[in-house]
Amino acid sequence: MGIANRVALITGSASGMGKQTAQRMAENGAAVVINDIDAAKVESTVDEFKKLGFRVIGAVADISKGEAVKNMVQQAVEAFGRVDILVNNAGLDKAGPMRKLTESDWDLTLNVNLKGSFLCSQAVHGHMIENKHGRIINIASRAWLGGPGQTPYSSAKAGTVGLTRAMALELGKSGVTSNCIAPGLIHTPMWDALPEKDRNFLLTKQPTGRLGSVDNIADTVMFLADDDAGFINGQVIYVCGGRSLFSG
Ligand SMILES: NC(=O)c1ccc[n+]([C@@H]2O[C@H](COP(=O)([O-])OP(=O)(O)OC[C@H]3O[C@@H](n4cnc5c(N)ncnc54)[C@H](O)[C@@H]3O)[C@@H](O)[C@H]2O)c1
Repeated sequence: MGIANRVALITGSASGMGKQTAQRMAENGAAVVINDIDAAKVESTVDEFKKLGFRVIGAVADISKGEAVKNMVQQAVEAFGRVDILVNNAGLDKAGPMRKLTESDWDLTLNVNLKGSFLCSQAVHGHMIENKHGRIINIASRAWLGGPGQTPYSSAKAGTVGLTRAMALELGKSGVTSNCIAPGLIHTPMWDALPEKDRNFLLTKQPTGRLGSVDNIADTVMFLADDDAGFINGQVIYVCGGRSLFSG
């Protein structure tokens, strides 16, 4: 049981819930690959983790680009021999009313959140099948159910749920599970970047009346990544304080 000696690749893990998840995995004995598009943040995260004695490498890559993803997976395999756990965490939200959104807002949101998860999963799944073991964990959002001003983001995250379900069916017999976490409001830099009036409005809709923490997400990723979690496949786990119980 556990994840000791597993190799985990976590996208967008130089910040927020990805970074917390990477730290938790390393503390539990996994080797971790810190990916992000932001080279400076990758460098500082890797330095910080090395000082803590973790087995870690950094891989700067834009996960929406196929060649960059292949190179990143190659780097991981060269450093640690394989990838056992992939957490498709990197994401962004280009929000706004439909009349104000541009074609490039749509493309960026879909390319990073959805295409990036597909490309990373595609690049690692062959290694996982060979090893007869793999855990693919996609970070979607409660917003896949729909959110006003979130047409590209909701579409991308709904696609992430579809991707998870399709991979679960295609890869399940090979010992590779695919699951999805749908976070609600979590206190990360993404949340801090929202205008204050939006943050106040969103909190009024929160059944718990408070934000979740990056630890709430790391806990759930750890549960799904565990060697013993092999019979959980194709599921969406909400970590949203009950916000998924109503729409709008
Ligand atoms: N914070 C929330 O309330 C919340 C709620 C629901 C879902 N989510 C999802 O959780 C995930 C993590 O969000 P977070 O709040 O920790 O955000 P964050 O902004 O703290 O971290 C996201 C990281 O992804 C990186 N990234 C962006 N584009 C990239 C690319 N093309 N290639 C590689 N890395 C890239 C960013 O540089 C950043 O470091 C995202 O998928 C987000 O959509 C967040």
